[in-house]
Amino acid sequence: MEYAISISPQAERTVKDTTSIPFGVQPTEHMFVAEYKDGQWHNSRIVPFTNLSMSPFALCLHYGQTVFEGMKAFLMNDGHINIFRVDKHYERFAKSLERMCIPVVPKGLFTEALHQLVQLDASWVPDAEHGSLYLRPFVIASEERLGVKVADEYLFMIVCTPAYQYYAQPLKVRVEETYSRAADGGTGFAKCGGNYGGAFYPTKLAREAGYDQVIWTDSNTHEMIEESGTMNLMFVIDDTLITPPLSGTILDGVTRDSLLTLAKELGIPTDVRPVSYKEIQEALEAGKRVEAFGAGTAAVIAPIEIIAIQGKDYNCYIAEDATMYKLQRALYDIRKGIAPDNHNWNYII
Ligand SMILES: Cc1ncc(COP(=O)(O)O)c(C=O)c1O
Repeated sequence: MEYAISISPQAERTVKDTTSIPFGVQPTEHMFVAEYKDGQWHNSRIVPFTNLSMSPFALCLHYGQTVFEGMKAFLMNDGHINIFRVDKHYERFAKSLERMCIPVVPKGLFTEALHQLVQLDASWVPDAEHGSLYLRPFVIASEERLGVKVADEYLFMIVCTPAYQYYAQPLKVRVEETYSRAADGGTGFAKCGGNYGGAFYPTKLAREAGYDQVIWTDSNTHEMIEESGTMNLMFVIDDTLITPPLSGTILDGVTRDSLLTLAKELGIPTDVRPVSYKEIQEALEAGKRVEAFGAGTAAVIAPIEIIAIQGKDYNCYIAEDATMYKLQRALYDIRKGIAPDNHNWNYII
């Protein structure tokens, strides 16, 4: 099915040097908007980036019916631009929308909107190593109604911002044993706004104690490792890549999935199974080489230098020959078109 998207470009194009601007501050020139009303998506359009006008009665402002995605477009060495794993991001978007009772955006509209927007703002895709254009599709309940209800009207939008290295330094993280990000039967697997709002307070406490992020544990025992901030967690112990399995409380990370696939291809043994913080602690106490890192679209791979477990700081392995950097390189090479894209992960514009 074809989707008609009207395009009203900016009269004057002004691409800024964005290399020193912090992540998420500088929008590109255009944005995509579509409206859902009377059971259908209407009025799909790309317009100059601008503020929204919205009634204070809009349901999204009160009851959290919001879902978003985070994806990236890359400039390849041959000059083409690709969007990484559109299909996998769409699958997750659709699952999140369903969980939040929001009408699912058709895949054709999602893909076409991304394609047209990235094509129009192509000059904003950074040329720098580890630079990319971060793409943020999202849906919000726009119906004007103060009562608690599932909205009948929504906005689907996509905005973009240039992105570079997300974390300047290896991370210091702390295993969280009091607060929970998600519980069984809840919304942990969905990329909905409330999951992030609820995570801020425990993260703030960790920051005040000198850590960058918390490592979330399961809400029942607080022993099993789940994820961290906006990243899935991975470990390398005894040369094996270990990561917790997906569940209702963990986001199905596209980076996690990609790294697991690449690890297998690189001959790195992988073990997807529940991981307790005690197991990590024991390995560290035994003096084993333990790599720990976050995997996510924004940071790609975020090496963890220090893990605090039950109040004690442990050092993880972050030297240059660490396995995580091999995985990072393999992913980078596919996105840049240096290595073959055997899985059709690159959606070429
Ligand atoms: C809570 C959470 N976990 C994990 C991830 C990593 O997912 P991805 O690799 O798809 O960015 C993200 C980021 O999207 C996230 O917000």
